[in-house]
Amino acid sequence: MQIEIFEDEQAVAQTAANLLANQLATKPNSVLLLPTGRTPLLMYAHMVELVQQKQLDLTNAKTFNLDEFYGIGPEHPGSYRQYMERVLFVPAAMPTANTVMLNGAATDSVRECADYEAAIKAAGGVDVAVLGIGANGHIGFNEPGSPFDSRTRQVRIQPETRAANAFLFNNKLEEVPETALTVGIATILEARKILLLATGESKAAAIAALINGPITEGLPASSLQKHPNVSLLLDKNAAAQLNTNEIVTTEVERLAHSL
Ligand code: F6R
Repeated sequence: MQIEIFEDEQAVAQTAANLLANQLATKPNSVLLLPTGRTPLLMYAHMVELVQQKQLDLTNAKTFNLDEFYGIGPEHPGSYRQYMERVLFVPAAMPTANTVMLNGAATDSVRECADYEAAIKAAGGVDVAVLGIGANGHIGFNEPGSPFDSRTRQVRIQPETRAANAFLFNNKLEEVPETALTVGIATILEARKILLLATGESKAAAIAALINGPITEGLPASSLQKHPNVSLLLDKNAAAQLNTNEIVTTEVERLAHSL
């Protein structure tokens, strides 16, 4: 696992955007698996800047998203589809056909999830999965207790995760859906490369457990220890519970490694 620690969230975001720009320059039709939430907002802003400066071309990229609220449609202002349209898809001029997301209004959620898995496979699998992390160690909407062999499915959202998403619903907690559709942990682990971004002190304990803790379904992100190509991009607050030895070691790794 490669760990990079940066001064602040701007540097994390810029590095992530640059890594994705390199990926797209090497393979213009890359398949990306993308997160929502607060953490990647700056990364998307940098990606849009790179697009405007013609240093990033996303027109041939295919994107899937990690998750979507269930019970609200893609037109709902709180949906992750609307978030993605706002922060990336529209400003980066991405063709709608290339931006695939789970449909939270699907009446048959089992079928919707099976079709999503099939679409990822048909696209050739994920080249780069970009992840955030919950303070409880969730990835996507895979909350603690999610099986490591889980696939795309409907899940119940934990109260603290619903609270963290209230900003998308005018801070009205009662309006945040209680369930979501999420890709599974097994689906995430099949990505060829995983980039996890974490910023802020509230993520420090989860990051320390991800790196040093046991591999356990109680901390879904610990499953990443099993993956051969993971990079963690952290600001110093999210890295606050790591020790210096790890940082020195991983700096050496960093030099021998690029996306
Ligand atoms: C959302 C997702 C979640 C978030 C996590 C962190 O698509 O995959 O796992 O990455 O909840 O959210 P923020 O960035 O808001 O702290």
